[in-house]
Amino acid sequence: MQEKKITSFVGELAAALENNTFAKATVGNYKGPEEQLQKVLLRRINTKRGDMLQFVFRYGNRDVAKNFGFADGLLKVVALFNDGFRSARLFTVSADFQLEFRGDKGVVLSRSKPTFSGVPGTGHDRPKDRPIDPDRKFLKLLGISTAEGRVKDKQQAKFRQINRFVTILEDLIIEAGVPEGRPLRIADMGSGKGYLTFALYDHLKNGLGIDVRILGIEERPELVETCGSAAAKCGFEGLSFSAGRIADSDLAAPDVLIALHACDTATDDALYRGITSNCRVIVAAPCCQKELRKELRFPEPLEPLNDYGLLLERETESITDGLRAVLLEHCGYGVRMFEFISPEHTPKNNLITAVLNHPSGNTPAPSKEARAIMRTFGISSQRLESLLSHHTLPDAP
Ligand SMILES: C[S@@+](CC[C@H](N)C(=O)[O-])C[C@H]1O[C@@H](n2cnc3c(N)ncnc32)[C@H](O)[C@@H]1O
Repeated sequence: MQEKKITSFVGELAAALENNTFAKATVGNYKGPEEQLQKVLLRRINTKRGDMLQFVFRYGNRDVAKNFGFADGLLKVVALFNDGFRSARLFTVSADFQLEFRGDKGVVLSRSKPTFSGVPGTGHDRPKDRPIDPDRKFLKLLGISTAEGRVKDKQQAKFRQINRFVTILEDLIIEAGVPEGRPLRIADMGSGKGYLTFALYDHLKNGLGIDVRILGIEERPELVETCGSAAAKCGFEGLSFSAGRIADSDLAAPDVLIALHACDTATDDALYRGITSNCRVIVAAPCCQKELRKELRFPEPLEPLNDYGLLLERETESITDGLRAVLLEHCGYGVRMFEFISPEHTPKNNLITAVLNHPSGNTPAPSKEARAIMRTFGISSQRLESLLSHHTLPDAP
């Protein structure tokens, strides 16, 4: 019986690959012996050797990717269940499928309405790493593309960044899960000119068919005005912008919170809002990390390095973002940090991604790890640490 359900699930996966209706799949609830292994994400990719199934094995803070031909990939999925995975989800444009090992009740396979109405990477006949079509109206209105639909020479780097960002967010949102029976809510803190906000909305809503509402929060009213008017011209009904400060703006319990290049401690304010709203996914690209610069000193035996301002600056950046990562982990998030675009395109390219794994409940003690790091570097206070130390977190969702 157990094997029959697994065979049916794998059969649905095979059919979706065959019919080109496959969107994504995840295999999770790992109970096997491999340390730190959490889940496996499956996506279809196009390689020189033809279409393949890519397995991304997620281990705590690192990923390992392996590609398989379709036939081998299907066998590998069966092997994952024998190796200790106890659940899986398959997203196709016809239906979603969920496979669950329920102890005495055996294995249950259920089917529900599809989350996706488009196939990722092919929704606009676009390659997977370039999901955004340069001819989209919003890109013209925001000055990224010409009226003919060509990316302007000066905007090539921005366009690359937009595509990369959207690809990363798509994966994170699927990993964390899309809510059932209501729209996915996303808050973009410090949305600026809205390039990334528009691209994310267009891709999720019009590329993948996900019911989504995105709210951009921005302190400069003229940018809110321009973005609001562009959203109306594009007919993007679920995309809105509001003038306000990150720390105190009105948010309707977002599922996903992003803060890209919100300067200095505005990133901490955004992370704090994300954590205290129990957001499933938080993504930040920090910049201008100045807060700790005055206090931070290299500890012994590195003290001679304190004579070099450049090193202190770089260390300030690392320690600031390191503390943010430690604090997010402390609040129950699985955190990764990587360069989301090559440094030749922008030096502000560190991305912190956080997916809520274990809600920490409503009384987290201050993080001992964060405080130890602060002591080591002579830091008396850091914005996110202070905010969290004085706050009671909401109940787990
Ligand atoms: C460097 S821009 C980045 C814009 C956009 N997120 C992007 O990556 O393209 C930062 C934006 O955040 C806004 N901002 C900075 N601090 C803010 C705060 N505390 N509250 C609201 N907006 C803020 C700025 O006005 C600016 O438009």
